[in-house]
Amino acid sequence: MLLFFFLALAWIWSKNYSKRLPPSPLALPILGHLYFWFWPDFLPRTLLKLSKKYGLMYLRIGAVPIIVVSSPDITELLMKTQDPAIACKPTAQISKYMFYGGKGIASAKYYEPYWRVGRKVSIIHLLANSKFDLFKPVRRYEVGHLIAFLKKEPEDRQVVDISSKVTLLIENIIYKMIFGGRNISKSLKFKKTWREGMRLGAAFNLAGYMPYIGAFDLQVQLHICAIICSNQPCFFRLTCRWKDLSTVIDEYLEKIINEVEQETTETKEHFRSFINVLISLMKSDNTNEEKLDRDQVKAIILELIVASIDTTVATIEWTLSELLRNPLVLKRVQEELANVIGLDCQQVEEIDLAKLDYLEKVMKESLRLHPVAGIILRKATEDISIKNFNIPKKMLFVVNSWALGRDPAVWPEKTEEFYPERFINIDIDIRGRDKKLLPFGAGRKRCPGMEPGLRITKLVLAQLVHCFDWELPDGMSPRDLDMKEKLGITVSRANPLLAVPTFFFL
Ligand code: HEM
Repeated sequence: MLLFFFLALAWIWSKNYSKRLPPSPLALPILGHLYFWFWPDFLPRTLLKLSKKYGLMYLRIGAVPIIVVSSPDITELLMKTQDPAIACKPTAQISKYMFYGGKGIASAKYYEPYWRVGRKVSIIHLLANSKFDLFKPVRRYEVGHLIAFLKKEPEDRQVVDISSKVTLLIENIIYKMIFGGRNISKSLKFKKTWREGMRLGAAFNLAGYMPYIGAFDLQVQLHICAIICSNQPCFFRLTCRWKDLSTVIDEYLEKIINEVEQETTETKEHFRSFINVLISLMKSDNTNEEKLDRDQVKAIILELIVASIDTTVATIEWTLSELLRNPLVLKRVQEELANVIGLDCQQVEEIDLAKLDYLEKVMKESLRLHPVAGIILRKATEDISIKNFNIPKKMLFVVNSWALGRDPAVWPEKTEEFYPERFINIDIDIRGRDKKLLPFGAGRKRCPGMEPGLRITKLVLAQLVHCFDWELPDGMSPRDLDMKEKLGITVSRANPLLAVPTFFFL
């Protein structure tokens, strides 16, 4: 009875919103447009289809009002002129439990010191070119390790699960930059717990859309649990589960922080891992704004892990998938590599990446068709007026970045095809200036890791295709490669990418 009363109140409240808003498809009582979230099609595609009919569109998911933007011109208008008013992300329940109440970067409100300090510290001490360069030996070693594995038994022509190999490679690189020699990447318990937390973070969370029932933790989730049920399917209440997982992760981070605090001698590695830097900032006596608290250190670390690993892995997977589906493009990339690196299968060095013009175009084309964020979320902190609509503060914005790259008005030639040559004559910036393509977002909240992310992605791709020819398993034709998307925290392949490598410098 009580629950019904709250639901009805929320419905009446949300109806008031719709008076001065963009057009909207038919909404159900109470649930609003929740049904689109369960549409069998990929969500950004569903939203794109709807926006062809409605243009700028208003949706209501439970009690949460949302404006959906799918066209480049409105994105331009919104992100250029209204950026300060939409520079916050909506508060997700997961950030309360997994990111220390939003003390990280993405989860912090942009007007709070947490955001400014976390972002500044991460850029200065990890992501800026001069710092990122210090970790080159780590990347070189890890990439070399993967190549050695792939070369090992060429006669066997074994099918390789590229998705899991690339995930392991990127995890190793990121964990080593953050934790240094502390072997967290070998800690299965940490990784499994973390993965489970992120899987749950991406799951539909009813309480997020109907906050008035959130306190009751009603959502029961069936999923594979790594740490309690030994990888057996079990049922959990969502919030309760997040709390359990965050306790395990916190214990882990505390153990490492304690170890770092007790280190008496400076680390022998020629670079200082990021956690060492964060802890020295936390312990420093200066009173300037870079001083961090303990929860903030942990939140920054966890957010950098979540923001970097899955995005980079998914970008590599999509690009390699497109190369396997388009053998002529792959051949052209290989020819460019042969010209720049040579024919002796030398390891690709980061310094060579700037000379790989065609690979740059391949990357842009891949990010046009497969922006791994899929949708970019923002929340208005002020009232906004756009295209004669008045949008009140607290409204959520969903910018459908997946749709931006498929707008025929902007991409008239071979819109749905993988065609890197389109970038020969048009110079479109993918770093947030041009709102026609937003793989790294834009404005104040744009990705601070785009240069490192692009560098790692290009390095791994260049290396994978420089030494190897790739075939699909069981004689599958390139056009039959399944390209189904899965929307989680990032848009990744629904199924792992499998292929057979042949080392061609035998
Ligand atoms: C190819 C790889 C990557 C892609 C495609 C990507 C994409 C994105 C996107 C779309 C956003 C949201 C931007 C917005 O809301 O406007 C974002 C945010 C973020 N990314 Fe990346 N990213 C990548 C790699 C990285 C890496 C390597 C790091 C760090 C090591 C990183 C750290 C972050 C952080 C901290 C944020 C939150 C920024 C904030 O809220 O202020 N990303 N990324």
